Amino acid sequence: MNEHVKAPAAPRTLPRESATFDAYTLSEIRRAAATGIYDIRGAGAKRKLPHFDDLLFLGASMSRYPLEGYRERCGTDVVLGTRFAKKPIELKIPITIAGMSFGSLSGPAKEALGRGASAMGTSTTTGDGGMTQEERGHSTKLVYQYLPSRYGMNPDDIRKADAIEVVVGQGAKPGGGGMLLGQKISPRVAKMRTLPEGIDQRSACRHPDWTGPDDLEIKIEELREITDWEKPIYVKVGAARPYYDTALSVKAGADVVVVDGMQGGTAATQEVFIENVGIPTLAAVRQAVKALQDLGMHRKVQLIVSGGIRNGADVAKALALGADAVAIGTAALVALGDNDPKWEAEYQALGTTAGAYDDWHEGRDPAGITTQDAELMKRLDPEIAGRRLANYLSVMTLEAQTIARACGKSHVHNLEPEDLVALTIEAAAMANVPLAGTTWIPGQSGGF
Ligand SMILES: Cc1cc2nc3c(=O)[nH]c(=O)nc-3n(C[C@H](O)[C@H](O)[C@H](O)COP(=O)(O)O)c2cc1C
Repeated sequence: MNEHVKAPAAPRTLPRESATFDAYTLSEIRRAAATGIYDIRGAGAKRKLPHFDDLLFLGASMSRYPLEGYRERCGTDVVLGTRFAKKPIELKIPITIAGMSFGSLSGPAKEALGRGASAMGTSTTTGDGGMTQEERGHSTKLVYQYLPSRYGMNPDDIRKADAIEVVVGQGAKPGGGGMLLGQKISPRVAKMRTLPEGIDQRSACRHPDWTGPDDLEIKIEELREITDWEKPIYVKVGAARPYYDTALSVKAGADVVVVDGMQGGTAATQEVFIENVGIPTLAAVRQAVKALQDLGMHRKVQLIVSGGIRNGADVAKALALGADAVAIGTAALVALGDNDPKWEAEYQALGTTAGAYDDWHEGRDPAGITTQDAELMKRLDPEIAGRRLANYLSVMTLEAQTIARACGKSHVHNLEPEDLVALTIEAAAMANVPLAGTTWIPGQSGGF
């Protein structure tokens, strides 16, 4: 070879990112190494998990008869608390607003949730930190949370509520307690929680006065006595062992069981917790329904499912699997204006981007929702935000009705597992429905 001609450079392969040590993981190692503290954030699990997207409806054809969308009725109402309560809650739609604490959310955000939910005939829920005038005043149906922390707990407020929800756990952090960092403990929040201003607060992960289902039975009876047996009592559990937790909640006397899956949002907790503890919502629904069926209590004790519900299809799928209603947290905040790209410049200044902002615990939310900052809060107009939530709830309901009619159902509660198939073997096994195009349900013999 001519010594003046260079050998061609060997072609180089593309730089390859490790699937195990991906860019996010590397950044988290660097962050941990630089600070020595674990990451705290809001929102739910962000990694890809089996979810309602892995299910499809079959729709009617020759063997099933669909309903006509413009002429034939498809009911959406639901009654919660029919087991013992003298005054069950009657809702026009099967979508409720999940418990989100005042403290994590601003007063205007609480008011907007109340306005939006009431316009659609559904309920809102308090949270850690007690009942505010904003939400009681604007919610026609308000569920009062009874939490391990007891922050803001007031028997008079219990009597002012329309139902009581005993919170055992949350899907984002089953087995964990709440967190509200000092930045958000404003004078008002501090007063309501009887806490010092500006100091980080970590609430208890378990109730101080009961340890198991037998004690819970006594606690529920106390709550019934305080409220003259009028109000439905819900028990909310984070999805971990939903079969047993549902059965034990029923045994303890619940009127309604709320099962919150691991995609469920939180105001703040350790990221390692959010991403690694609990089971996906999809995996939890069938187990909870099975527990109710085995006890002969399905539809007698109502089931509310939450954790990553985003649209009418999710609602319809949860109902088809046997839930009576769903609850939404994150999606309701997005409808109010959370993570709106119109604040992009401010998200960038916070080191994030619209759609990924989850440092809700820091209280610097440009949209004025997850903050106690007086100036930021002013950005949220509760009337406009409430209308946006009502619109969104209306769309979700119309979507669920559209699907139900296509499956030939005159009420969304008539949707059933038989209307569903799964796209993946995992989803088929978790939801106990056949893999699409087959009659095979994993774990069951037969099928083709
Ligand atoms: C900002 C925020 C605050 C929350 N605060 C509470 C709370 O005080 N008590 C509670 O039981 N759950 C709380 N949750 C969880 C919700 O009640 C609900 O379980 C969850 O948001 C449902 O999942 P989703 O956000 O995917 O809809 C909170 C969630 C968010 C997003």
